[in-house]
Amino acid sequence: MLKLCSGCQRLVRQQLRHVRRSLHAGGTVLNVENKDPSSFSWRTHSCGELSTAQVGQGVTLCGWIQHKRYDFMLTLRDAYGVTQVVLPEVKKGTGESLEGIHLESVIMVTGKVQQRPDGLANMKMSTGEIEVVASEVKVLNASKEKLPIQIHDFQQVKESVRMQFRYLDLRSTRMQHNLRVRSSMIMRMREFLCNQHDFVDVETPSLFRKTPGGAKEFLVPTHQPGKFYTLPQSPQQFKQLLMVGGIDRYFQIARCYRDEGSRPDRQPEFTQVDIEMSFVNKEGIYSMIEQLLEHAWPQEKPKLNPPFPRISYSQAMDEYGSDKPDTRFEFKIKDVTGILKGSGSSIFNSDDEDFTVRAINCKGAMDHLKSKDYEHLQSEAKKRSQHGVLIVQVRDDLTWKLPIAKHLPETVRQEMAQSLEVSQGDMLLVAAGPNNSMCQLLGQLRLTVANLLENKGVQIRDPDNNYNFLWVEDFPLFLPSEDRIGELESTHHPFTAPVAEHTPLIYSAPQKVQGQHYDLVLNGAEIGGGSIRIHDAKLQEYVLQEVLKEDSSCLSHLLDALESGCPPHGGIALGLDRLISIICGEPSIRDVIAFPKTVEGNDLMSGAPSRVEDADLARYHLKVGNPK
Ligand code: AMO
Repeated sequence: MLKLCSGCQRLVRQQLRHVRRSLHAGGTVLNVENKDPSSFSWRTHSCGELSTAQVGQGVTLCGWIQHKRYDFMLTLRDAYGVTQVVLPEVKKGTGESLEGIHLESVIMVTGKVQQRPDGLANMKMSTGEIEVVASEVKVLNASKEKLPIQIHDFQQVKESVRMQFRYLDLRSTRMQHNLRVRSSMIMRMREFLCNQHDFVDVETPSLFRKTPGGAKEFLVPTHQPGKFYTLPQSPQQFKQLLMVGGIDRYFQIARCYRDEGSRPDRQPEFTQVDIEMSFVNKEGIYSMIEQLLEHAWPQEKPKLNPPFPRISYSQAMDEYGSDKPDTRFEFKIKDVTGILKGSGSSIFNSDDEDFTVRAINCKGAMDHLKSKDYEHLQSEAKKRSQHGVLIVQVRDDLTWKLPIAKHLPETVRQEMAQSLEVSQGDMLLVAAGPNNSMCQLLGQLRLTVANLLENKGVQIRDPDNNYNFLWVEDFPLFLPSEDRIGELESTHHPFTAPVAEHTPLIYSAPQKVQGQHYDLVLNGAEIGGGSIRIHDAKLQEYVLQEVLKEDSSCLSHLLDALESGCPPHGGIALGLDRLISIICGEPSIRDVIAFPKTVEGNDLMSGAPSRVEDADLARYHLKVGNPK
């Protein structure tokens, strides 16, 4: 406990007397039964805590007027609940009538708690057995008559309106709940990491320099002509440098900035739970993250059951067509090249080495899908691949309803039936073409079918598996570059180490090297990614210069550090927004962020980004062409 000398104690007493006097002078009612005698508040209780235990007691409540009834009754709402208030004597014009005081005005009510009359208790409300009989009502801030958002749970408001008037939207039960879940999870994460596991919470800079690899960065102009900062897409380099600096275990609730298209699970600025550890291996990271999530997991949710299952990248791509598979349901992809290749239809003929025929049996789907669903699937397939997809409906005599079926020998159909365990009412999706794109196409379509069926009330995902965590591992260290034909790019980022036994391959066949990278997937969404890092300067330089063909000179600080006594290290970053949105059952991460941006990256509330004056541009040596 903090001990103050007698002089300081005197000073504190004087300050407290001053605060009390000023509160009285302002005409506010002083807190009479505050739970915490050292603090002062305008209210004695919150709107969510009164019960029959306080009947007869004098109280002061503050909050927003949620409903008004007959000009003498209202429900008062604050962050903790609602309380019914009655005005026994309505004196028009004295300020004690509710006439002219609009919903959502902020008021202070002083009065007495009384039990609600017989038969009028509302057992659905935590305060539903009592009401406060007001002796004084003070309007602290009058609301306009018509607000663009009505604060009612049943009110459906367009998202653009919610974002424009976010300060009103934040009053909704939904946003109040989501931001509180987020806050308490962060608090428990800090408790676990800092108090129980010696992590050090370090803030890293938001103004950084452009470096190679990874997502696109936002540029920040400076007063130095032609020179720019960048906003870090993650604190990756800093956290590695902290390991060189002997911090040993680092964590940060880190703001990250990426100039990439916004989607429901992406924002240009977002938050990571960023972690790095020295002298750790993959198992150490997995175990720490599993324990961290267990510790921080909301108590009202079903308990987690680590260790989480693991799947290799190649199995995930092969069976689910995705590196973030939703394994809560089957509909797995099967390789049927051996059965269908060269079997009558030209679709199944190709000499391409990479040619494959893949199929999924969507068990029982035909019984529920209508022709417009098949059209939807076909158009989804066409959008994703020029090869499209064959949809086979399996009829009651186990024949296929499909024009090309007549070109296929009966034996092929039987082999397919056996391999895919086909029965009447099933729907098969068959795709023929280049291996990777066919797997990815079927991976997307299996999700579309599952969603179509679930929208029709068919249970597809395991209801006992609401939070399905999965580690995806054994990624290739490099993949063919999407922009630079014939070149390689990092699957994750250039600092990921190869598995030890593959290190020599870096110099001879880098495309075959497996990396020490892992992703954490929850319900088919990537909620984290990390790796064991390269801690050898020469290897790091070779990867940057020779494999990725990047200019390593702008990473000289990191290369230097790796030659200065760098501990072997590794880490991970959890996407906090994605994690919380799944826990809260929200379809978009925007619903767990207090002030999010639109898909186009705009802040509808403040109008950011906005134009600036030419003089401002000149300060930064910038000139803008003709903006449209
Ligand atoms: P990565 O790029 O995989 O790894 O990011 C880690 C996690 O951050 C989340 N995420 C996002 N969330 C919202 N909006 C975005 N635009 C966005 N982009 C990513 C995802 C992702 O899994 N420095 C490495 C981590 C490491 O190696 O330790 C990194 O940032 O949930």
